[in-house]
This record gives sequence, C-alpha cells and structure tokens, in this order.
Amino acid sequence: MKKIKYTLVGFVVLLLLAFTAYKCTTKKMMANAHKKVVGNSEENYQEFCASCHGDKVKKFITRDKWVYGEDRESMFKVIKFGADKDGMPAYQEALSNQEIYDIVDYILAAVENKKSEEFSSGENNDVVFHSEGMKLKLELITEEAESPWGITQSSDGILFFTDKQGILFAKKGNEPAVKIKGLPEVKFRGQGGLMDVKLHPDFDGNKKIYLTYSKPHPSNEDLSTTVLFSGEIENDQIKNGKDIFIAQPYENTSRHFGSRIIFDNDGYLFLSVGERGRRDEYPQKLDNHLGKIIRLNDDGTAPEDNPFYDQPNAKNEVFSYGHRNPQGLCYDPINNIIYDNEHGPRGGDEINKVEAAKNYGWPVITYGINYVGTKITDLTHKEGMEQPEHYWVPSIAVCGMDFITSDKYPGWKGDILSGSLKFDYLNRNDLNEDGEFVKEEKLFPTIGRMRSVSQCADGYIYFGVESPGKIYRIVPIQQ
Ligand code: HEC
Repeated sequence: MKKIKYTLVGFVVLLLLAFTAYKCTTKKMMANAHKKVVGNSEENYQEFCASCHGDKVKKFITRDKWVYGEDRESMFKVIKFGADKDGMPAYQEALSNQEIYDIVDYILAAVENKKSEEFSSGENNDVVFHSEGMKLKLELITEEAESPWGITQSSDGILFFTDKQGILFAKKGNEPAVKIKGLPEVKFRGQGGLMDVKLHPDFDGNKKIYLTYSKPHPSNEDLSTTVLFSGEIENDQIKNGKDIFIAQPYENTSRHFGSRIIFDNDGYLFLSVGERGRRDEYPQKLDNHLGKIIRLNDDGTAPEDNPFYDQPNAKNEVFSYGHRNPQGLCYDPINNIIYDNEHGPRGGDEINKVEAAKNYGWPVITYGINYVGTKITDLTHKEGMEQPEHYWVPSIAVCGMDFITSDKYPGWKGDILSGSLKFDYLNRNDLNEDGEFVKEEKLFPTIGRMRSVSQCADGYIYFGVESPGKIYRIVPIQQ
C-alpha cells in the first residue's frame, strides 16, 4: 500500500516537473518565434516571401497586373488570409497585422520606386503614383532653368522661377518663358547665385517682387553676402529695383547663404540666412545677420516689435538665431506657425518650428558630425536651446519647403514637403491635427536633385530638380 502511495506521489511530482518544463520551453519558443518575426520589413520579406517571390522585392513588383489588387488593403488581405487555390500561404499565424502592413508598405514603396525609375528614364509618361489614397501624375512644365532655385506664381497664373546662374523667368501657360530684365548682378559661385523669388501678398495691386541673391562686395570681389532685392514688375522688367536688406557682414566663403522668403498673415517678411560656413563666429551672436531668421517690413526695414529691437549690440532685424544653413522656410497660415529646414553637417538635417528670440543651438548642439567624421560636440540637448521638430541622420540634404493647404491634395493637407538634394526625392512629413510629426514618406524617389518645392496660386504643387533642370507639377487624377 505504502509503495503504491510513494509511486503515486512520485508520479504527480514528475508530472508537475514535466508540465513546468513544457511551459518554460513553449514560452521560450514563443519568445524566439516573436523575435523571429519582429525586425524590419525587409528582413521579414527575405525570410517569409523571398523563396517564392524572388530575393529582391524588385523582381516581385515587375508584374503588369495584380491578381488580388494593387492597393494597401487588398495586399494586406491576401497576405493575411492567403490564396489557397493559387498556392499563396496565409500569414495570420506567423505575422502580426502591423508586420503585414509593414511588408505591404515595403512592397508599395518598391512599386513607387520602380515607377519613378520608369518615369525618369522617359519610358512612360503615364506613370501613376499613389499616396494617402490619392492618385498622382507628374507633368513636366519647363526645362528652361538649369537650377530652378525658387518657384512662385501670380494669381493670373504666371509662373516665376529663378535659375541660380542669375536669370528670372516668367512663364504663362505653354508659351516659352521670358527672361525678366532689371536684375542685380549676382555672384554665381559655389552655393551662391540668384536664389529665391516671392511676390508681395498684394502683388495684384502693387506688382512688387522679391528676390534673394549672393551679392559681390562693391569694392572687394572676394567677399559676398545674402541680399534681399525688390522692385515692381512692369512689361517683363523690374522697375525701381534695389537691395532692401543686406546681411552683415560680407564673407569670403561661397557657402551657406540661406535664403528663403515667406510672408506671414500680417504681411511681415521672413528671410533665412545661413552662417556662411563660419559656425564659431556668427550663429550664436546677435551682432550679425548670419545663421539667423530675419523679420522685416515689406520695405526691408525692421519692425519695432522685433525681439531684439532695443537690445544693444544686437541687429534689430534678427528674429531667431543659432541656425546653420536654412534653405527651406514655410508658413502654416491656419495655426500661424513658421517652419524652417536646415542642412546639418554630416547627419543632423533639421526641421524647426521658428519662434521669436529662440536659439536653435548651432553649433553648440547638433545631431550631426563633421564631414570628415570627427565630432563637433557631444551635445544634442542644452537648456535654452530648441530641439528640432524632426531631424534626419544621415542627412538627406534638405532644400526647399512648403506647407500644404490646397484642397487639391486632401491626403497631404497640413503636411510639410521638403526636397532632398542628396537622395533625389520629395520628403513628406505627415503632421497630425495637433501639429505633431507622425510619419514620413519618400515621394518620387530617384526623380532628381530636388532644389525647390512650392504650393502655387493655382493650388498645385510645383517642384524643381537640377542637373538637368526641370520643373514638374504634381497633378491629382480622378479615380
Ligand atoms: C509558397 C510560395 C509563396 C510564399 C512563401 C509567399 N507567396 Fe505570395 N503568392 C504565392 C503565389 C503562388 C501567389 C499567386 C499569385 C502569383 O504570384 O501569381 C501569391 C500571391 C501573392 C500576392 C498577390 C499578388 C497579386 O498579383 O495580386 C501578394 C501581395 C503576395 N503573394 C505577397 C506575399 C508576401 C508578402 C509573402 C511573404 C510574407 C508571400 N507572398 C509569400 C506564393 C507564395
């Protein structure tokens, strides 16, 4: 009897032990399985899909017709539930919904990429791009400017655009562009030349146009600076043209001029000025205009309510400081917010919300390093210095920027577009209703070195790429 009792207890203990062991291993297995499926979409594609669909997603997307649909939801469904009769397995056990969506987005990005390649190589002008439920096409508007630095438009549809070498064009409809006369002499060298163009908010009434350019010093050819020039357009000519703001001091480098122009709802003009490659001399000091956002009246004078107007040893045009090379500036007219984008050194390109009197930290704080790989600073944060709303490591070389309000692009309303010079695409920062940066999208990859992007008076978005120079219009198409 006793023997039986012991055997029974032993058996129960064994059972318990076995059960715990089993539990532990399944837990471990599950953890491993979890580890296996977590990871980026590219790895998941390699692991789960490549065996049948090809090791490069590129191979997968060369299908002319998608049996189960080319949109995000259809793809999600076929991957989750499979297509049994065709031999496509269901992945609902192996992958989470999020992971499936990530793979779908990875495939869709590759599809867009391929379209851009086709488009750029001129094989197919009917290429349709997809973004946020919209279908979009690109229309080539002009190839007349080699480096279309600034683009804007009057309410009667005349497109004004600069060519960095010193030409201002005006183009109406399909007519060839005309060259506007009466421009200042520019120092076309390095990053300098004729840069941005903007029209006065009351252009219809006063015909006032604004340009930025790198101006050679009147008595020393080695020096140049960022200048705001303005006059009135009459018969393809600028009348009464003069320099209304000259950034001080002149410098002997040919780098980091800035120089975007925007107007806010109250009619003040904001101008971005780069630090001219002299980071230790200018951006942290207020006695100069370099590495600053400048706030002006429309005649180039300083408004008396500027933040440093009454401060001794400070330039009264300064609005914010500690900037590096802001080649993008845009305005959200609904929430009255100014954003800039600026080049970091190697890494650390930024988007900032630009506010009065604030210090954006360059070169004390940055997410970038020197081009040669050495450190600039250990700091990314410091009290009294602003954090960017968004930054890129590695740098994408941001240039050009606009805030989208047009009804023509419902999926992009309230978003920020920035050009990438380095990676040849248009970057979209998706902002939610509270103005928070929620996600990013690369549009038209491989399209070209993107220099400028503007939502114009006709509600369409135009962008300019250089070498070879082209201006495109983004045209939404009806389903
Ligand atoms: C065992 C082979 C196999 C594997 C593994 C596999 N698929 Fe498929 N898949 C197929 C087959 C077969 C089809 C049927 C359509 C076709 O490709 O001609 C298909 C169809 C699809 C379709 C629909 C294509 C269309 O034309 O509408 C998508 C999307 C898809 N697979 C994605 C994936 C993804 C993502 C993975 C990995 C998570 C994956 N597949 C893994 C075999 C496979």
